[in-house]
Amino acid sequence: MSGQQMAGRHALITGGGAGIGREAALLFAREGAAVAVADLNLAAAEESAAAITAGGGKAVALQVDVAQAESVEAMMAAAEAGLGRVDALFNNAGVMLSEDRGPEDTATAVWDRTIAINLTGVFHCCRFGIPALRRAGGGAILNMSSLVAVMGSAVPQLAYTASKGGVMAMTREIAVQYGRQGIRCNALLPGPIGTPLTAELFDTEEKLERRRVHMPLGRFGEAGEVASVACFLCSEAASYVTGAGWLVDGGITAAYVTAEDPA
Ligand SMILES: NC(=O)c1ccc[n+]([C@@H]2O[C@H](COP(=O)([O-])OP(=O)(O)OC[C@H]3O[C@@H](n4cnc5c(N)ncnc54)[C@H](O)[C@@H]3O)[C@@H](O)[C@H]2O)c1
Repeated sequence: MSGQQMAGRHALITGGGAGIGREAALLFAREGAAVAVADLNLAAAEESAAAITAGGGKAVALQVDVAQAESVEAMMAAAEAGLGRVDALFNNAGVMLSEDRGPEDTATAVWDRTIAINLTGVFHCCRFGIPALRRAGGGAILNMSSLVAVMGSAVPQLAYTASKGGVMAMTREIAVQYGRQGIRCNALLPGPIGTPLTAELFDTEEKLERRRVHMPLGRFGEAGEVASVACFLCSEAASYVTGAGWLVDGGITAAYVTAEDPA
């Protein structure tokens, strides 16, 4: 027994070229998994895979647009061919578009694009991933949702919120339907994490403070702090966890926050 949490596992991670996905790819590999790193940005996926192989791990880099069914089908076939089998799927790729606002001022094109990547993308990965997990004799699916699946955001981002709520609902139903086939399915619900995505969105001290005031831990999370929970949920250590929405939110959902008293 190696003591590594992912020893013997074969994991496919979408959006593995940056942020949480890259941290997860590196961690899964350090914990003993062979990893297929898939991303829209092939060069970024190749960088993640190169970092893994430089550390002595096994990795393949793949290009995918999760919004396109044929692209996901091809990614899944390439991952199985490259790794031998796939028994853990971290469906992480997602976007938050800066033009995403409230119900009255979000353009339908922004809504459609967000849903296509964040929700339909996860559906595609489950659609083509479940048969691969079955061929591997079972395994784990981890879908990337968000804290906003369970709390309304004070900052308007309606398409993103709706997409992540959909991911949570889809996750629950897959867990119920596939448990007896040896397939677990969970969702990850991070609060604000410091990644390229959030650095671009919260680019002033004022915007940052607007978020930090709600955080009992007083800071954004780090991508590695989400990756470590993802690793647990994809591993045998979580063998009795399915249908769960796993919060990694620094206590935000536990907090009742009021504005500071006037001096
Ligand atoms: N950062 C946060 O605060 C936060 C909080 C909750 C949930 N999330 C979710 O976590 C996931 C990762 O977020 P991140 O902050 O690491 O983002 P990121 O922008 O740093 O990385 C996302 C990666 O996904 C890739 N990607 C984008 N569209 C794609 C597509 N159509 N097909 C394949 N790959 C695509 C990008 O190229 C990029 O490498 C997203 O689903 C995001 O919604 C992030």
